[in-house]
Amino acid sequence: MNETNKPVHGMWTSRWVFILAATGSAVGLGNIWRFPYITGEYGGGAFVLLYLACIALIGVPIMIAEVTLGRRGGLSPIHSMGRLAEQSKVSRRWKGIGYLGALSGFLILSFYSVVASWALIYVWEAVSGLFRGMTAVQSQANFEAMQANPWLMLGSHSLFMVLTMGVVALGVKRGLERAVEVLMPLLFVLLLVLIGYAATTPGFAEGVAFLFAFDFSKLSGEAVVIALGQAFFTLSLGMGAIMAYGAYMPREIKDKKTGRARPVSIGSSVVIIAALDTLVALGAGLAMFPLLFTGNLEPAQGPGMMFVTLPLAFGQMPGGVLFGSLFFVLVVCAAWTSSISLGEPMVAWLVERGKSRWAASLLVGGAAWVLGVGSVLSFNLWKEHTFLMGTFFDNIEFLSTSILLPLGGLLIALFAGWVMKETQVRKELAMKSFALYMVWRALVRIFSPLAMIAVIAYALWSATSG
Ligand code: PHE
Repeated sequence: MNETNKPVHGMWTSRWVFILAATGSAVGLGNIWRFPYITGEYGGGAFVLLYLACIALIGVPIMIAEVTLGRRGGLSPIHSMGRLAEQSKVSRRWKGIGYLGALSGFLILSFYSVVASWALIYVWEAVSGLFRGMTAVQSQANFEAMQANPWLMLGSHSLFMVLTMGVVALGVKRGLERAVEVLMPLLFVLLLVLIGYAATTPGFAEGVAFLFAFDFSKLSGEAVVIALGQAFFTLSLGMGAIMAYGAYMPREIKDKKTGRARPVSIGSSVVIIAALDTLVALGAGLAMFPLLFTGNLEPAQGPGMMFVTLPLAFGQMPGGVLFGSLFFVLVVCAAWTSSISLGEPMVAWLVERGKSRWAASLLVGGAAWVLGVGSVLSFNLWKEHTFLMGTFFDNIEFLSTSILLPLGGLLIALFAGWVMKETQVRKELAMKSFALYMVWRALVRIFSPLAMIAVIAYALWSATSG
């Protein structure tokens, strides 16, 4: 049996590159666009606490499971799962985890590119000083005008897709690795600059209090499921991105000092990734809420918060042109390193089937672009064409993030917890502490699957009763 990874696609140069790449996948629109507005909607501090619990108790264990499957399989998620099913002598239907992930990744990539491309347009608008002195009505009108313009959005969606698939086409070392090595440090610096800026505004204390004051009366069962879903989406779980990145993670690395090979631990790497992802989400909140309070704006703004309310705040403050521009550059960087991880699993699979990386990237990017056109049109020409959950965009988003991702997570947890041979799991994980291993195992076997079932059940229930 093949115990060593065959580096078909190449391997990350070091453990830190893996951590950076996985953090790049995790940190995205979920952190900067979605986390602040749902925190605003669900009332702040108490929701944040709930979210942290979900990251620790469900996100981290499933991420460990996903990386473990990936590193053990050593290939694209589809072929890795086939290989693992074979090794565990179970039905090859488990390969379905890979196909399911590829489908979710493809669907998410199609609309993710559209929303990310709004940020691209906003970089331009911020730089050109458009937000200066804008009123609330004007800001709303500006956002709506952009959405009403299919040509503008088609252009920016195309540009973002080219940026994304261009990196994927260059391969693991020359593309992904180089991109995250430049974009992630830039992202952290920009975020720190923006938090520093927010700290100079009069609304800072109020913003901090909003994020960290725990008012438990605001919590509901719904908040729990939303927090869970967010924890899951923000860590890029359930669709194979993390599994694919895990496949490029070396098992051991030579210690520079002693020259001896040291095992590369999955558990501690995942804890670092989850911590960084959480820090960025909280940091985004810290950078945004003070500006809203400074401008006397409501924190419960819904999805328009980043594109309507925030520009308004930037437009009112000194240095708003510079910091507004930096903010949207930050969003683009974050979304970019996430979207490449959405494309990589499918491209890797096609490469293993004999396609060149360029052809595979063109194919995947082209197909996701076409599907994305449906999302572009959902905001203008097809706005009135609603079915099931709403527009075309609403349906693709709901199906992929509320149903397929948790379903993928459920199957991954079941496979790692119940199906895969325990000796193999333990060997791959190489956890030093047996007690910690047992905690992980219990979480992944019972707690995480139940949580995933709850998320899916809630999604279906809210879809049919709403
Ligand atoms: N984690 C990304 C974000 O927070 C989104 C994502 C989901 C990326 C699933 C890859 C896979 O924006």
